[in-house]
Amino acid sequence: MYILGIETSCDDTAAAVIEAKGGLAKPSFSVLANTSYSQVAIHKKFGGIVPNLASRAHLEKIIPTIKETFKIAKKKPENIDLVAVTRGPGLLPSLLIGVNIARALAYRFRKPIIGVNHIEGHIYSNWLTNKKIGFPALILVVSGGHTELILMKDYGKYKIIGQTLDDAAGECFDKTARLLKLGFPGGPAIAAEAARYKIQDTRYKVNLPRPMFNSKDYNFSFSGLKTAVLYLYNDLIRKYPAKEIRPAIAAEVQNAIVDVLKAKTVKAIKNLNPKTMMICGGVSANKKLREEMAGKTNPYKIPLFIPDFAYTTDNAAMVAAAGYFNYLMKKPAQNSWKKIEANANLKL
Ligand code: KG4
Ligand code: ZN
Repeated sequence: MYILGIETSCDDTAAAVIEAKGGLAKPSFSVLANTSYSQVAIHKKFGGIVPNLASRAHLEKIIPTIKETFKIAKKKPENIDLVAVTRGPGLLPSLLIGVNIARALAYRFRKPIIGVNHIEGHIYSNWLTNKKIGFPALILVVSGGHTELILMKDYGKYKIIGQTLDDAAGECFDKTARLLKLGFPGGPAIAAEAARYKIQDTRYKVNLPRPMFNSKDYNFSFSGLKTAVLYLYNDLIRKYPAKEIRPAIAAEVQNAIVDVLKAKTVKAIKNLNPKTMMICGGVSANKKLREEMAGKTNPYKIPLFIPDFAYTTDNAAMVAAAGYFNYLMKKPAQNSWKKIEANANLKL
């Protein structure tokens, strides 16, 4: 079946057309078009996302983005069998744009519609490029708004075993990048600055804490790291030029975040014995994290799945894939254009 996916939960206006087949027994996908309009240029000068500007930009771009997607996919709305749209969690003014255009399309073309949880979208992004994913699967969701360790027992069956108690990992990248004046979004900026770091300057030490590294649970905390960066930067900037200390701090921030994410994931694998392991969400685009999880130091023997780069940050192909699984599982709620509604705090 052909599925139109729509995603506007944050600052990307995204649409996709995918072909899905195989059912729950043998799901497989081909992405015919995966289009996205990024609002980074709009929010950059504010150092973060401004919800009302995001909503206005979604409104302006959603129809051109969907039109372009159909053109690339060489499909028409009439060819679509299902409309899938992110209905939460996210910024309400942003979600409303996607949800309402999806409702209008479903009504006009008499198509079934499914409201998708954005986190579920990130989880199913792994199925777009990987096929044999065994259950139970341990999933590390790392994005701008979420840091969660989830045990997925089967399609649609999730147990959150750990989560951040304050800031998300992506938020920590974004906030520390802002402190270091590296720009927005912070994740790619920190990663690029860290790549410039060569050797430890012996005149000073750049050591940041690994919050909750040794705690007995699977939870995370990143807000203290941001404060530690603030003190460290303020101390060093009085003595050394910014261009010398920034790469060192960026590399240490990245290492600290990756160390904690990896330690908790490894602990969960040891204790819970899942069949497979996955990472997803915007931060899973991070090269250091991908290498650490997959590299030679990998202490676990279970298969690791990471989505292709194109499906790590927010995109609509993942929403379409999640729509397929929800459709197959006949999730009763939110399947008619009359009922579907945005929910900024939607739970998994
Ligand atoms: O999944 P996503 O696109 O949106 C949310 O659902 O939040 O994730 C966005 C987050 C941002 O915090 C961004 O800084 C982070 O993902 N990110 C990265 C990288 N690319 C994006 N973090 C670390 N390294 C990257 N290369
Ligand atoms: Zn996301």
